[in-house]
Amino acid sequence: MKVLAIESTCDETAAAVVESLAGGVRVVKSVVASSVEMHEKYGGIVPEVAAREQIKSILPVIFEALGGEEVDGVAVSYGPGLMGSLLVGVETAKVLAWAWRKPLWRVNHMAAHVLANWIIEKTQKLKNSKTQKIEVPELPAVGLVVSGGHTDLILLESLTNWTWIGGTRDDAAGEAFDKAARLLELPYPGGPEMDKAASQVTDEAWKANKNLFKLPRPMIHDPGLDLSFSGIKAAVARMVESKEFREWIPDQVGDDTNVDELRKNILAREFSEAVTEVLVKKTLMAVKQYFPRSVVVAGGVAANKGLRETLRGEVEKTGVGFFVPELKYCGDNAAMVGAAAILRPVESGLDLRPEPSLGVV
Ligand code: KG4
Ligand code: ZN
Repeated sequence: MKVLAIESTCDETAAAVVESLAGGVRVVKSVVASSVEMHEKYGGIVPEVAAREQIKSILPVIFEALGGEEVDGVAVSYGPGLMGSLLVGVETAKVLAWAWRKPLWRVNHMAAHVLANWIIEKTQKLKNSKTQKIEVPELPAVGLVVSGGHTDLILLESLTNWTWIGGTRDDAAGEAFDKAARLLELPYPGGPEMDKAASQVTDEAWKANKNLFKLPRPMIHDPGLDLSFSGIKAAVARMVESKEFREWIPDQVGDDTNVDELRKNILAREFSEAVTEVLVKKTLMAVKQYFPRSVVVAGGVAANKGLRETLRGEVEKTGVGFFVPELKYCGDNAAMVGAAAILRPVESGLDLRPEPSLGVV
């Protein structure tokens, strides 16, 4: 089966052709256009601008993804997301399904992030990894969903039976990264910039200064699977205002040391460490509680280098399979939407309407 998938929930306009393969999916072609640069000067997404850009990009992106392919149906993300952006993808998908007399599948964008772990690529067989022989996650699985708007732990009993087992009480992990980046005066979008800043700092530099830059690890010692990220963000706000932070100088200053930048980078590293520690701890608690065969990570923050590496190491120690999508399938894309339509199909009528506040389960 071959599907044309469309994604337009936020500031990415994406289309992909995806087909089923050995318990997972193969991507024939995936195209993503982004309006992220247009939002940079505002420091965040402007919904009206995002929707207008969706309209400009949607047909060129679909034509490029389709090439000469014939498909068996059309899949579209119908939420969660921004209403104006969602409408563009949903209405386009409806028109194509009607014109081609083919089925229309509605896809929950957050579920699609999770199912990106079922995209089979050659590079998924990682050398020296214990998960080398497994190509798609074995179920049951614990899912950690970390995006700009959602942070949830879920239990996947099967491809269709999912239960919410924990999540954030306030900010999402990606939102916390974005807000911390803004406090550190890093450009928008903040998550990748924080990641870049953090990776400039050596382990030695971080360890030598981490007491001074110490941020809280909210709820890490609590027995449940709840998370909270608003406290870390508030601590960053206090830290950047403090005299200690502003007047900090490193032990060894070379002539070419940019102290301002180094100070920010160390705080970015400490922030990433704090968020990672909490996410790793809660994921391991879920593994202990639910005995899954795999852990799958999903959403934009799954692109974070520190989180990917630390979580992989810790989960593999438990003997459970570890899966995280390739970087290009962590952020918003349509290949994951096609994966969801193939693995968890929900056929829809042509009266489909966007649902901006849909949850992951
Ligand atoms: O899943 P996604 O692309 O969109 C939503 O569905 O929300 O997630 C976007 C979020 C943003 O908050 C962005 O800053 C964050 O993911 N993000 C990252 C990284 N790349 C994207 N956060 C930390 N490290 C990254 N490398
Ligand atoms: Zn997303």
